[in-house]
Amino acid sequence: MTKQDDERETIGLTRRQFLGAAAVAVASATLPGAIAAAADTPAAGALALPPLPYPANALEPIISANTIGFHYGKHHKGYVDNVVKLTAGTEFASQPLEKILTATAGVADKAAIFNNSSQAWNHAFYWNSLRPKGGGAPPDALKKAIDASFGSLDACKTELSAAATSQFGSGWAWLVKAGDKLKVVKTSNADNPLTQGMHPLLTLDVWEHAYYLDYQNRRADYVAAILADLVNWDFAAANLAKS
Ligand SMILES: [Fe+2]
Repeated sequence: MTKQDDERETIGLTRRQFLGAAAVAVASATLPGAIAAAADTPAAGALALPPLPYPANALEPIISANTIGFHYGKHHKGYVDNVVKLTAGTEFASQPLEKILTATAGVADKAAIFNNSSQAWNHAFYWNSLRPKGGGAPPDALKKAIDASFGSLDACKTELSAAATSQFGSGWAWLVKAGDKLKVVKTSNADNPLTQGMHPLLTLDVWEHAYYLDYQNRRADYVAAILADLVNWDFAAANLAKS
């Protein structure tokens, strides 16, 4: 078994499933994870599950390979597969996820397309919001923006933690740019700040599937560990630069 095969097995995908997932039709080139997916990026307009930006065990011990196996290999893949099925033969079939989710937000008879396209976008964004040996100090431009909006990095992290731990039920905590300022917001279920005209910089998934295998009901411990050692400030800084 090659190292790559071993990594695929680790995330719960057989070689056949992995190749199938890579060929699934969802615009990787337009996904938020595209910066880490260059080698496997399908042609623009095709829909695909973007590869993880790191091996499945790279976030241990904070997030286990077992959690990644289900979260990426089952949940994220499931959202992508559903988008492909639900949009086949429709006006959304070859659209980037961002366009699909903003066009279907709040449209009652498009709720399933919205939920799955937004969740596919959110998860690609989440994987890039984390990195092995993350945490630490943000790049200068982001640090200045954080200081201007929150007063300090610690105050920003405190707001992120409060949003992530107080979100009732499933959802997301986000660092966003809203107008000229940075803000922390939380959303329920599949909702995404893009639909409210904000620019996401970073997100934390607080659905139970993101942490329950490792932390059971201790969501606050999962959030604290991410903010200390996994949060990818470089990704947030890159998003701020292009916002
Ligand atoms: Fe998730």
